[in-house]
Amino acid sequence: MKTEELRLLFEQMTLEEKIGQLAQTTGNCLVDDIGAENAVTGPDMDLEGLTESRRYMVGSVLGVSSAKEINRIQKKLLDNSRLGIPLLFMHDCIHGYRTIYPIPLALSCSFDRELVKAAGAHTAEEMRASGIHVDFSPMTDLVRDPRWGRVMEAFGEDHKLSGEMGKAMIEGYQQSEDGSIGKNGVAACLKHFAGYGAPEGGKDYASVDMSLKEFFGYYAVPYEISLQAKPRFVMSSFNSFNGEPVTGSRFMLKDVLRERFGFEHILISDWGAVEELKNHGVVADDREAAMAALEAGVDIEMVSTTYMKHGEQIINDSPELQKQVDDAVWKILCLKNELGLFENPYVDEAKEAEVIMSEKMRTFAKEAAVKSAVLLKNDNILPVSKEVKEVVVLGKFATTGELLGNWLCKGEFSETVSVTEGLKQLLPNAHIEAYERIEDCGREKIESSDLVLVTIGEEWNLSGEAHSSANIELEAEQQEMIRRIRAVRKDFVCVAFAGRPLALESVIDEIPALLWCWFPGTMAGAAVAELVLGDAVPCGKLTMSFPRTTAQIPVRYNQYRCGRPASDQLYSSKYQDIEDGALFPFGYGLSYGDVAYGQAEISSDVITDENGIEISLKLTNESSYDKEEIVILYMEDPVSGNVRPVREMLQYKKVALKASEQKEVLFKVYAEELKYMNSALQKVLEPGTIRFYINDLETPVAEVIYKNRVGGK
Ligand code: GLC
Repeated sequence: MKTEELRLLFEQMTLEEKIGQLAQTTGNCLVDDIGAENAVTGPDMDLEGLTESRRYMVGSVLGVSSAKEINRIQKKLLDNSRLGIPLLFMHDCIHGYRTIYPIPLALSCSFDRELVKAAGAHTAEEMRASGIHVDFSPMTDLVRDPRWGRVMEAFGEDHKLSGEMGKAMIEGYQQSEDGSIGKNGVAACLKHFAGYGAPEGGKDYASVDMSLKEFFGYYAVPYEISLQAKPRFVMSSFNSFNGEPVTGSRFMLKDVLRERFGFEHILISDWGAVEELKNHGVVADDREAAMAALEAGVDIEMVSTTYMKHGEQIINDSPELQKQVDDAVWKILCLKNELGLFENPYVDEAKEAEVIMSEKMRTFAKEAAVKSAVLLKNDNILPVSKEVKEVVVLGKFATTGELLGNWLCKGEFSETVSVTEGLKQLLPNAHIEAYERIEDCGREKIESSDLVLVTIGEEWNLSGEAHSSANIELEAEQQEMIRRIRAVRKDFVCVAFAGRPLALESVIDEIPALLWCWFPGTMAGAAVAELVLGDAVPCGKLTMSFPRTTAQIPVRYNQYRCGRPASDQLYSSKYQDIEDGALFPFGYGLSYGDVAYGQAEISSDVITDENGIEISLKLTNESSYDKEEIVILYMEDPVSGNVRPVREMLQYKKVALKASEQKEVLFKVYAEELKYMNSALQKVLEPGTIRFYINDLETPVAEVIYKNRVGGK
């Protein structure tokens, strides 16, 4: 539709119809018997405002999948809509739609922007084939507490990496870098703005309280970087921030998101978050909730109906809100127009089957699963020879397809390649048996098999939304299983599945080889088999530290310095009953074969605001494997105006190295990225020494003097 025609349509809208466009409901509110194609991802809400007359004015529907059902709902609305404004369909496809990719926390361990972008693009293509237009993804909430179940949806504990992964995913979803929506793209929804990943005690939905220095210096950075990809939506979060529920906070949603970060598109609340302002105790009733959310600039109210109940009176009383609502409705109409919905509001049901779960999607899913796995331990056991004849697979994940992770959207467990199936595909001549319980597998088989592969971890539905845990130790019966196997042989392999880091201190010494696969998705078993048997080489590195015990949380690589850093001195900052530091820190990950790191060279020993420096070094793949090497550059600022972290990641590169190949890696560093947010909320850097580290956080590879200008101090 031409813009002028769209404007004419807009001019015809009543305020009631405009408020309808700001309402989002579930598919079962518009049609009956929608069944499994309607995902309910939140608690029941008061739907009083969704009266018979308003029902067919709503602007969007969430949680519906399948082209057939989407067309059915679209038709029902258009048949009952005065102006025939089509629906937008939105869904949570955060690591795939039907073909499921590794959970976002796993994808981040690939340190591979292009892979994450491709995961977004593949997901978008399947979504559009089913008629879904908007993806409630990526979630770039910074996370430091694995007790929070939603760490599975995040990109880890580093603010810059989280931002870059979020930005890549948005570009993949939208299939553009300028905020437009590509032919097979979907509008992305950056979430959850803001600070939702830091709930008190790691308990979902709990309050968030931190200094603005911490917020703008760390927790806001992933959103700020992701916004560079111009997502068409941002979702306001459930949590309160420094005493203000975000979904009713003018500071957070207008001053920060709109003014400071320049977000110009559509702001949608999280599920029921507008009505839940009452639970936070900052409003007395639905009318005040609607007022607070509207004044904070929330455009679309997800599921609750306070806007429909009270919006007209509130908006009629406020010319400022009238303009804000007009702007929001116009943006929504423009997006629908950009997607071509006025010309064709329906999706081609025949095409869906060609796209969904295609060979292309499954091939990518296996690549992503391979690149997201992290090898945490390997006492010269992996890779295992493909000559093995007798194989036994043990544990609760030995044969299950439940390796998709939470938020599995339309993923089907029955379509997942299990670990045992993956091994059988690569070892057609081997005799492979699987036992979920070690009690069912005789000692003799454990003793005599060529390969004993033990699957461990936590079930997929123990992480994700509303699944916070007060204890993240590996469950006792799995620890017992490991000890019983260890008592019989020393050369078994553990493959782990989980949506979060687990605390492994009590059992790690019994495990000779540990491949951490997170939840790898549809092609899980195929990827595991390739990695275990050496057809693929593990290259992932952790983006979230593994605490030794639950009680050690929070533990992160970029903790602030303190006056008595941990040491063997009594009076130093450590626990007396466990070793200091993470069991496996951010940036940790093993591989097959060695890569030799040459001496780093630096282009100058002075860096100024005008003149950056270059740090280069040679990598030599000393192995017979073709592989990828993740090279992470960190900085240390030993003397600064505010206390800074002991180390901070600056940049990372992923280098493909053929067997025996040598390559140079070059980092270009500018003073701007060395700065930190001080307590006056300024980005600053004092003149002085800056040290650089590469992968190894103990031994600096270079040192420069920062001067604010050439010849300066
Ligand atoms: C949920 C989640 C949010 C999701 C939304 C719609 O409660 O918090 O991440 O996008 O509701 O399902």
